[in-house]
Amino acid sequence: MKVLNVGSLNIDHTYQLERIVAPGETITSKQMSVYAGGKGLNQSIAIARAGIEVYHAGKIGIDGQFLIELCNDSGVNSTFIETGVIPTGNAIIQVTSQGQNSIILYPGANRSLDKAWIDKVLTEFSKGDILLLQNEVNLIDYLIIEGKKKGMNIFLNPSPYDEYIDKCDLSLVNTFLMNEVEGAQITGCYDPECILTRMKNLYPQAKVVLTLGQDGVYFQDKEQRVYQPARTVKAVDTTGAGDTFTGYYIAAVIEGKSAIEALTFATNAAALAVMKAGAANAIPKRHDVEKSRMI
Ligand code: RIB
Repeated sequence: MKVLNVGSLNIDHTYQLERIVAPGETITSKQMSVYAGGKGLNQSIAIARAGIEVYHAGKIGIDGQFLIELCNDSGVNSTFIETGVIPTGNAIIQVTSQGQNSIILYPGANRSLDKAWIDKVLTEFSKGDILLLQNEVNLIDYLIIEGKKKGMNIFLNPSPYDEYIDKCDLSLVNTFLMNEVEGAQITGCYDPECILTRMKNLYPQAKVVLTLGQDGVYFQDKEQRVYQPARTVKAVDTTGAGDTFTGYYIAAVIEGKSAIEALTFATNAAALAVMKAGAANAIPKRHDVEKSRMI
């Protein structure tokens, strides 16, 4: 079984602030750092650092060559990352001293995927392989349909939620990995119980992983609902923590771990990620996750 992640690659410009800037306000940042990021790239790196082979497919500009190097250094297969004339996607990220963040995205090359390129990438994958998607690249509606036609197992992180998610046939998704904001946007519900119940009614065949930040995480499938509390740690920067969770969760599923084992493994990885500044660079290696585990 192979894992293909068709996803974003970003250059993150991260600004350290006491608090998130308000409308009409100007705040001077204490520090600015440039990191590798993008939900897609972060998730591929998390899968690779968990010890699972992953192919990342996406588009960057010539300004993003260091992202390919990072993939190669981290064990992510970069064969399907293409360099074109459109600049690499980027993010402006404000991070507070409490570790909270606020993100503005500029898609750049991430939203320049075309159907012929997607078809070519998909020829290398087949029935039973995993197709992981987020919503920072274009044509995820097409990717879901074409991946499913091949019999691939579709994992969707519907983030950030916008009108492109509404264009997708979500009944084709095998596993949703989402937070309570995306859960609310998809279902119209505002509490976890309602989100999970509505997801079960809307997509009865799908597995749902609903992350709630400091309030833990739920897993639900046809047979069961499982809950795992969060770990309490001192957060330095929460950017990429959800991506770390997603990557480690998928790695655990591939290894055949039970739902609760997968949630615990991913929770421990995300807890380590928030203790370090940055996105991709803050994703821990498996060895450190295993050393830190609580159970
Ligand atoms: O999930 C965190 C990521 O969101 C950042 O790395 C940023 O690039 C945005 O894509």
